[in-house]
Amino acid sequence: MQHKDYLQYKKTIERHCAELPKGLQCPLMYEAHRWGVSRFAWSIMTVANATEILQLLFKQRSFDMIVSMGAGAGYVEHTFRQAAQELEQPLQVLAFDDNPPRNCHVEVSKGSPSAIATLGDQSGSILLLCWPPFGDAHTTSTMASDATTAFVAQGGKYMIYIGDVHATGDCKFHELLWSNWELYPETQWFQPLEVWVPESMGLLYGGYDSIGVYKLRDKPLPPPSTTSTS
Ligand SMILES: C[S@@+](CC[C@H](N)C(=O)[O-])C[C@H]1O[C@@H](n2cnc3c(N)ncnc32)[C@H](O)[C@@H]1O
Repeated sequence: MQHKDYLQYKKTIERHCAELPKGLQCPLMYEAHRWGVSRFAWSIMTVANATEILQLLFKQRSFDMIVSMGAGAGYVEHTFRQAAQELEQPLQVLAFDDNPPRNCHVEVSKGSPSAIATLGDQSGSILLLCWPPFGDAHTTSTMASDATTAFVAQGGKYMIYIGDVHATGDCKFHELLWSNWELYPETQWFQPLEVWVPESMGLLYGGYDSIGVYKLRDKPLPPPSTTSTS
């Protein structure tokens, strides 16, 4: 398992890209992004980002495990493991993906949200969803909502959701997030994630990335009112 630095990789690509003729910059960035998301991750997470998140969570209580669903190559999970070590807070990282790649940065087991039901009590765990698949009326992925529901059924109360909120997670997941989970306001002061700019790759969407740290509400919010008061 090799842990090269993803941010360093992107900065090196950008440096070389700037030296190329204009017409070649876009194809290089496109290919570099494609390689980066498969070798590293969809989010350009750093150990510093992971440290900020864990410091906030460890202020709430102690945790013994991060359970990641849809971990891909496990780079983001590696940054959390590294950050936990540096904070001297032992934290087991359990990563699942229904189609794990061959070379991963942490051990990634083959598994889908139903695996969470086999883990027992999750009250001391943090659920991690990083760029969970997008699901809307035209697609069928319910991975994010299934994982969240399974986690809560096992007593889980804390979640980290990283991704472009317009391009990741299914509709039910976003409904659950709104009604059942409370975002820690401190999240908005976190250092922003570095992103691959879509226009530099000839693309239009998927250029936002954000970190959300959530706690399960004691009582869900009532559904938003659809009646007008005017
Ligand atoms: C956009 S990728 C994000 C991967 C990784 N978290 C990252 O940030 O690079 C979505 C991942 O979800 C996985 N996935 C999709 N549906 C799944 C399911 N039902 N159960 C487990 N993993 C799933 C895919 O195999 C893929 O690796």
